[in-house]
Amino acid sequence: MATSEQETKSFDSGAPVLETKNLTRRFGELVATDDLTLEVQAGEFRSIIGPNGAGKTTLFNLISGALLPSEGSILFQGEDVSQLPPNQRVRKGIGRSFQITNVFGGLTVRENVRLAAQATLRERSVVENFFGNKDSFGDLNERTDDVLGRIGLDGRGDERASTLAYGDRRRLEIGLVLATDPDLVMLDEPTAGMSAEETRATMELISDVLADRTVLLIEHDIELVMNASDRITVLNRGSELATGVPEAVAANDEVQQAYLGGGVL
Ligand SMILES: Nc1ncnc2c1ncn2[C@@H]1O[C@H](COP(=O)(O)OP(=O)(O)OP(=O)(O)O)[C@@H](O)[C@H]1O
Ligand SMILES: [Mg+2]
Repeated sequence: MATSEQETKSFDSGAPVLETKNLTRRFGELVATDDLTLEVQAGEFRSIIGPNGAGKTTLFNLISGALLPSEGSILFQGEDVSQLPPNQRVRKGIGRSFQITNVFGGLTVRENVRLAAQATLRERSVVENFFGNKDSFGDLNERTDDVLGRIGLDGRGDERASTLAYGDRRRLEIGLVLATDPDLVMLDEPTAGMSAEETRATMELISDVLADRTVLLIEHDIELVMNASDRITVLNRGSELATGVPEAVAANDEVQQAYLGGGVL
């Protein structure tokens, strides 16, 4: 991802695709998200890193609508979506974060992708296609084929998902995200439990397949996201510790002390 062109790309101009303003979420006494004000630009690859319990997943839940904020707001493409239910946010282009459990092993690769595409097409076109649009099946097949091509599983559509090798299954998972055609893709630790080699391949796949989307990626490991990210946000105890290009974040004293324990990079 981080070509030299992208390294010089400025993210300070243009309207952000996603903004959080003083976003706060409490669970009783615990402040899981603490006054977060963030801006993510269209096309940006932003990684969210931080130790266990830093509030990374809670932030995703607030953006997707799985949780409502205690205070503050979330703007998507300039519109306040803070109080919208999750399905309405999907319709606006906020991608759900898919996990391995979203792959139906008994279905074929094609059926899995088609199902994911269908759910979103239905949600997005419920008004304009209320009585059924003759083009919607064509759209669906076209999108399914397009996704299979992008994830390198064209020609494998008739295989059962349960028979896929590990790496191909990860491809299919990314395909299920793409099938919903989101403007913003959120991935919560997609490499959890993987070997170093699987992790490298998955990071490459994500960078490659989602190059034209705005991506929010949660990770623990700063080294893993150094190459893929345009910018990195470090969370600690719900607060933003730092945001910047990878080199700046890795060199940040506060980040090194609080998160890396110093001297890791
Ligand atoms: N539904 C909930 N009810 C109560 N507390 C919660 C809830 N969800 C999260 N928390 C708490 O909020 C804090 C932040 O949790 P969160 O899952 O967002 O962290 P995280 O950065 O994703 O951690 P990890 O790296 O372990 O996934 C934690 O202390 C967690 O126990
Ligand atoms: Mg988490």
